Amino acid sequence: MMPQPAPEKNETPDNPPQPLPIAVLISGNGSNLHAIIKAIQNQTLPARICVVISNNPHAPGLHVAQQAGIPTRILDHQAYADRAAFDAALQDTLDSFNPELVVLAGFMRILGTAFVTHYEGRMLNIHPSLLPAFTGLHTHQQALDKGVTEHGASIHFVTHALDGGPVILQARVPILPHDNIKTLAQRVLKVEHDIYPLAIRWFAEGRLRFAQGKIMLDGMPLSQPVDYKHTHHVQPPPPS
Ligand code: GRF
Repeated sequence: MMPQPAPEKNETPDNPPQPLPIAVLISGNGSNLHAIIKAIQNQTLPARICVVISNNPHAPGLHVAQQAGIPTRILDHQAYADRAAFDAALQDTLDSFNPELVVLAGFMRILGTAFVTHYEGRMLNIHPSLLPAFTGLHTHQQALDKGVTEHGASIHFVTHALDGGPVILQARVPILPHDNIKTLAQRVLKVEHDIYPLAIRWFAEGRLRFAQGKIMLDGMPLSQPVDYKHTHHVQPPPPS
């Protein structure tokens, strides 16, 4: 069973909470974007996507957004003189849509210090490994090379440390004897599609925050990442 939403203080049947405006940044297929869109459509995620931005003009995920009627913008990083210029343009575009949360979903650009500071506490990323294991690229290959028996995906707040921000939620998958990069990537991607909408939901419900270097979930500091298979234990606080 999934955690139930915590009622907002001033929420009444005549005054339902407004969906959280989020912006999603992609570079590729957009399967995580699709999972987020589906969760919104199924009413399990109280959010609305105000814009999808891709740095890759050919990202298939742009079509996923367009089919759902979501505004898209392309900011091709190759068109900018340097990282700072790209980041500044990205920030201007994002801020023109007033998102309350920025969701990196397969966004393959490293973001600079000023950008990360601007969105600190309101930017999430998904990484295909059980962080802190296997940061950077080629995580499935790294896991196979290391010979570990378990792999997975992590949702974390974005900080200045690359793939090093505090981890909120993780899902584990086994590594099977005949796995290759493709079979393992498919297994991990499947759980990514479960955990990303769930973490965004916690944020949208006001249950999840990041302040002064600490993750707070339901008003308590989170000392270790929530394991997805235990999320039925992560209940919202009782209504006050
Ligand atoms: C996912 O594995 C995500 O964890 C990683 O890039 C991939 C993006 O997949 N950062 P998609 O574009 O959401 O299908």
